Amino acid sequence: MKAVVAGASGGIGQPLSLLLKACPLVDKLALYDVVNTPGVTADLSHISSIAQIEGYLPADDGLKKALTGADIVVIPAGIPRKPGMTRDDLFKINAGIVKGLIEGVAEHCPDAFILVISNPVNSTVPIAAEVLKKAGKFNPKKLFGVTTLDVVRAETFVQSITGEKDPAKTVIPVIGGHSGETIVPLFSLAKPAVKIPEDKLDALTNRVQFGGDEVVKAKDGAGSATLSMAYAGYRFAEKVMKAAKGESGIIEPTFMYMPGVPGGEEIAKETGCEYFSVPVELGKDGAQKAHNPIKDISEYEKKLLQACYDGLKGNITKGVEFVANPP
Ligand code: NAI
Repeated sequence: MKAVVAGASGGIGQPLSLLLKACPLVDKLALYDVVNTPGVTADLSHISSIAQIEGYLPADDGLKKALTGADIVVIPAGIPRKPGMTRDDLFKINAGIVKGLIEGVAEHCPDAFILVISNPVNSTVPIAAEVLKKAGKFNPKKLFGVTTLDVVRAETFVQSITGEKDPAKTVIPVIGGHSGETIVPLFSLAKPAVKIPEDKLDALTNRVQFGGDEVVKAKDGAGSATLSMAYAGYRFAEKVMKAAKGESGIIEPTFMYMPGVPGGEEIAKETGCEYFSVPVELGKDGAQKAHNPIKDISEYEKKLLQACYDGLKGNITKGVEFVANPP
């Protein structure tokens, strides 16, 4: 298993690369960034784990060398938010970064699993899909927008109500997109079931939707979530790799092109959004089945979904347009 981190020298990239370097599923790890990869690579190379590590800068065909032979490419490249910014404010810069990296993936490792972390995920995943389509290399089952941090936050924040010692034991589907009101946590479908007092539901939901702002504010201009995101990105990457190696029964919410995933066509029709995050069953070749939880959700959650659709549709169109009519 060869893993690549593109944006490896950044706030997310470094701890994510550390976790992948320590992961026994990874045989080869290639780090790519426009700055500082030699230092990060030298540092991580002293860790006595299985993964052989290589680091590349853009010079001397660095991107090509990093991507060639890759089985999984994780992309946390791009600028993060500062206080007062929304994820959509990042579009101008990050759209071009993601486009360039995906062009490289299309050319050098089109069969790899692609995990997009760069924000705004609601638009960067459609950008990635359009670039791959243009190159005739789009496999919708292998392109994932990483929304795991929303799931991790839901698990963590609900603990104040459940009192469960290990928060990760409460499974909470989070669907929709990955920004503000497009994030829809489904506490009514928590497993094991969770009883949230009505007067606490608004605050809890809002904290999952806007939890990223807490970190942006606390970092006071120094960026957004990096360590919790590296944890979340690793957790998702590990699941994709375990499924690729044949482990069955792995289901995780992720933002995908629904018409291209078995079971997803119906979700795209019902939501009016071609890209949507739902719990997806992972297999050897990527997404095997998109699960549709919408029919089982509460009236409260149905209202949240309406607000989600409005915001998400615009974000998706913006991404598609960016590739169709480059600025
Ligand atoms: P950062 O600024 O610390 O790191 C970004 C890295 O990307 C830098 O090392 C930079 O040199 C590199 N980079 C820039 N252009 C590149 C290119 N063309 N090729 C390769 N590398 C390039 O930012 P941070 O905090 O690591 O965040 C990265 C991205 O992840 C941001 O867009 C942020 O909004 C997003 N993010 C996503 C989350 C999610 O849940 N999906 C959560 C938190 C952040």
